[in-house]
Formats: sequence, structure tokens, C-alpha cells
Amino acid sequence: MSLAGQHFLGLRGVSADIIHAILDASEGFRDISRRTIKKVPTLRGRTVLNVFLENSTRTRISFELAAKRLSADGVNMSASGSSTSKGESLVDTAQTLDAMQADVIVIRHGQSGAPQVIAKHVKARVINAGDGRHEHPTQGLLDMLTMRQRFGHLEGLQVAIVGDVTHSRVARSNLIGLKTMGAQTRVFGPNTLMPRELAEVYGTTVCTSLRECLEGAHVVMTLRLQKERMTSGLLPELREYSRVYGLNSNAMKLARPDAIVMHPGPVNRGVEISAELMDGPQSVILDQVENGVAVRAALLYLILGGDES
Ligand code: NCD
Repeated sequence: MSLAGQHFLGLRGVSADIIHAILDASEGFRDISRRTIKKVPTLRGRTVLNVFLENSTRTRISFELAAKRLSADGVNMSASGSSTSKGESLVDTAQTLDAMQADVIVIRHGQSGAPQVIAKHVKARVINAGDGRHEHPTQGLLDMLTMRQRFGHLEGLQVAIVGDVTHSRVARSNLIGLKTMGAQTRVFGPNTLMPRELAEVYGTTVCTSLRECLEGAHVVMTLRLQKERMTSGLLPELREYSRVYGLNSNAMKLARPDAIVMHPGPVNRGVEISAELMDGPQSVILDQVENGVAVRAALLYLILGGDES
């Protein structure tokens, strides 16, 4: 299967060959981003619409930059100031945008499954930029690219994911993608934030202590504590959360000496990760950001018919 002409809605069902092809192409686009002149004519004349109906900094800006660096015309839409705030339905909005002859619609939406619904109603190709608690496939890809750059391979890596897994589409896309690539995952977080089906559906190991989760890990990924959920009784008090689930340099001693620390951002500095670890040599958080532009450029390129070799 090739990506040309396909929607990209999640990592579920995407083969290891395709993931490798995207990561390989991303390396080329990362090199382009490092040049003084960061623009190539590859997608001249193509139109990419970024529809972000939920807050976003890095994902939205990296999709915008990716399109610009490939010379595509990019237009951005957010919820405030658009007709979605006047009560227009999602499908009607999508069909309106489609009528303007978009080649690709990139969508972020608070409802799980929204990109799938849109994909059924438009001619444009749809890329999921994060939907509810479902998937965030380009984040999974940029995370895997970052790991592959550090270790040279994904197969056999031990990846620990710590934090609020229930609300995390980032965790889900990573669990799915890493399994496809032959890495092993384990997760640790508050009991109330550990979906029961994790082990079964995602083939991951649910740990009962931070020690069990981190021991021998190549990669330690922590997730944003979604403070907006603090009031719902799902979480202990902030300081308590930080004490049990927060990562710091001391906890990292449990992982391999060459282990890296990842975070999809935005970070609550000092809550899920200590400032010192975040700014220290093990942190690859800014590499993740850089790789985000490269992965999104690669995906636009491949979906719009670029050569996978
Ligand atoms: C995440 C998201 O929105 O899913 N951020 C991101 O895209 N890099 C994670 C989060 O908001 O916690």
C-alpha cells in the first residue's frame, strides 16, 4: 500500500513499511528545514487547509510551516471567529471548505472520530491532527522519528509512558505505532487514569510502580497532566501527583544510562517533569518539536503523490 491519495486518520492499521517510509522521508525534510533557504517547490499550487477547532501551538504551527516550506498554499481556520461558533455543523463546515478545492484538510477536533466523519464527506484528503481521546498519529510519528534518531532503530526499544494515559491520544498513537515497529511499551499512572483495556487492546504492560515502569527503559515519555480534569476527582492533589508520578533526574537513574526523556508538550514545568530534567542532557523535547515539522512535511508530500523511494 502507498500513502498517495490516502487519508491519514490514525496509526492503527498502518504497516511498518509505511511508517519507515514516512520516517525516511522526514529525515530529508529535516535537512531542508536546517538550510538557510527552507523552501522547496515540491507542492507548488496545492492547497492545505488547517482546521483547528481545539487549542494548539506546536501541532498547528508545524503543519503551517510544513505546508509553507513545500510551497503549498496554506489557510488556517480556528473555532473562534469562524462559523462553527455560529452553530454550523462539522460536516457542513467541512463540505464548505471542500468546495473551495482544498487538496488536504488537516483537522484537530475535541471529539474522538471527527476526522473519520469528515473524511466520508469530502473529496480532499484528511489528516488527523488529534481527535479527542482517540489518536494523534503525527505526534506518534514524530516521537518515533526522535527515538529512531537516538537509537538507530525502533525494534526492541523499551518505551515507558508515564501519566494520564486515559485522556491521551498521544499515548494511544505511540502504543499502536511502537507495537507495529516491534518496540515494547509499559505504562504507569494513577489507577483512575489507566483504562482497563490497555493491556489487551494495545499489547502494553500496565505497571504498578514507577520503578517497574522505568527500569531498563530506553525511552521515558511523560504526558501533560491535564489540569482541567483535576476537579473531577480522578486525580490526587497536584503535589501528591508530582511526588508519585513526576519525573526527575533521580527517577531517571532507574532507566538505562543512555535513556532519553520525551514530552509531547505543552509541559506543566515542575508537575509531570522537573525543570532540571526538562532542561538537561537527557531531554529531547525540542528535538520532538523540530521533528514535528519534518514529519508533517513528509506526510503532505507522500499523500499528495510524492515518491516513497
Ligand atoms: C498534545 C495534544 O494536544 O494532544 N499536544 C500536542 O499535540 N503536542 C498533548 C496535550 O495537550 O497534553
